Amino acid sequence: MHRALITAALPYANGNLHMGHIGGSYLPADIYARYCRARGREIAFICGSDDHGVPALLSAREEGSTPASVVHRYHERQIEDFSGLGIEFDIYGGTSSPNHASVSQEFFLKVLENGFLEKKKSKQLYDPEAKMFLPDRYIQGTCPHCGGKTLGDQCEDCGKDQDPLEIIAARSAITGAVPEIRETTHWYFRQDLLQEKLFDWLSTREGWRTPVKNFALGMLRQGLKPRAVTRDLPWGVPVPLPNDPDAAGKVLYVWFDAPIGYVTFTKDWLEARGRDRERYADWWKNPDVPIYHFLGEDNVVFHALMWPAMLLAEGTYQLPTNVVGNSFINIQFPGKDETKMSKSRGTAVWIRDYLARYDPDPLRYYLTLIAPEAQRATFRMDDLFRRNNDELVGTLGNFVHRSLTFVQKYFDGKVPPSTPGDEPSELMTSLAHLPQRLGEALDSFRFKSGLALVMRMAREGNRYFDHQAPWRQRKENLRQCGGTINVCLRIARSLAVLGAPFLPFTSEKTFDLLALKTEERAWEKASEPLEQGRSLPPPRPLFAKIE
Ligand code: 2FM
Ligand code: ZN
Repeated sequence: MHRALITAALPYANGNLHMGHIGGSYLPADIYARYCRARGREIAFICGSDDHGVPALLSAREEGSTPASVVHRYHERQIEDFSGLGIEFDIYGGTSSPNHASVSQEFFLKVLENGFLEKKKSKQLYDPEAKMFLPDRYIQGTCPHCGGKTLGDQCEDCGKDQDPLEIIAARSAITGAVPEIRETTHWYFRQDLLQEKLFDWLSTREGWRTPVKNFALGMLRQGLKPRAVTRDLPWGVPVPLPNDPDAAGKVLYVWFDAPIGYVTFTKDWLEARGRDRERYADWWKNPDVPIYHFLGEDNVVFHALMWPAMLLAEGTYQLPTNVVGNSFINIQFPGKDETKMSKSRGTAVWIRDYLARYDPDPLRYYLTLIAPEAQRATFRMDDLFRRNNDELVGTLGNFVHRSLTFVQKYFDGKVPPSTPGDEPSELMTSLAHLPQRLGEALDSFRFKSGLALVMRMAREGNRYFDHQAPWRQRKENLRQCGGTINVCLRIARSLAVLGAPFLPFTSEKTFDLLALKTEERAWEKASEPLEQGRSLPPPRPLFAKIE
């Protein structure tokens, strides 16, 4: 039995989850995890909230509470949203846990000991009112290159990188105060020393999505620079150097501690199952265990470069087997232009709002149909409704329902016998090959084509049903009609088993309607006929129309 470690990017615990998050990271990861489980692979599917970072700190300031209470609130909501969508991690941790502090501190010290961290003084802008150094993203003023208004370390007008100290008439975006220039010390990660090793590794990866690999190689060709991995902030993992006065009041940069969260949560997961935490090495340091990171476009550079560089610098870990990165999902409202999904612009569709009104599977279905695997996708609520009605209700649901209705009405609720020899050979062949073909698609992270294979089988099922016309057969030759329905039930079983990674709630319902026992839901048995004479419960529709 083979193992795999699967991670999904840790969402910031500073906001609700929207369609873009789910379609870009969590849903493909969940489909893959469900598929692996169905194939009998031993997996660890790891995720949790990314609790640190400036936004949580600022939210707390705004609402007069603490960062810990802000992240606790969003962490709980994330758990609800994921579970409502059937996204089933083996563990959902949080990076503000004490366990995580010690795991990331240990990691930091190892990287320091190996000579990849360097202390350096620099001048930075300090907000005397907020009493904190200003992160680049929170400095506003006039761009020294083009004279436009800017916010952050890159001008929104001319796109040029800017040194925060050169911004004209700078102001703090947090309090509006005029910042002071102060000196501070930070630890810089010398990822530049690993440039060549990273290049050799990255350029020889196989099976990676082209945009992911090309983007990472492009960044690498531009050259990696030493990068500060500590911050002057009151919220984060403290820099673990108690005897160094320069470390006082400093925490690890959120992007340094976050990916280490995958490791912390693996340990926590083992412990929760009554195992030794240190067995995490069986997963993270074992060349026989592939490691797959699922994430969105904005996280590619961290997972394909900085995180592997950190792992190399630490020295005892395996590197990721694949970084399964997706592009963004834009959104389009009726009569409006396509735009980015964004909280601040009010253009995000929240998972909680969706789940308050609709079932999870139509969303899982639609987000897989439009999955931004190779390029950006556009989310349209009206399109989701239409495809639910046409494809889930009209094709898949209709096929299963009409087949089951025949069983109830004309065969006393029992599976009719097959009529060997009468079985359509082409259809039977494609049914027999489906598990393998789908497996190939999913093993190469082509979820969209995988779903298309399942839906094609549903369409073939309907075509067969129409062609056989069992409503006529039943009057002319009931035995033949039974043979037709037997074939249809077999297809329905296969759709339920193979469709389960995509539409888990629907498959559960179908399993019940086909009275399939647990062992009969196995991937390997997907194309097998149902035993004749088995009693089936009265059918009920799998999907509801959305008007
Ligand atoms: O972009 C984000 O939402 C980050 N919180 C992802 C972190 S992924 C990881 F490295 F933990
Ligand atoms: Zn500019």
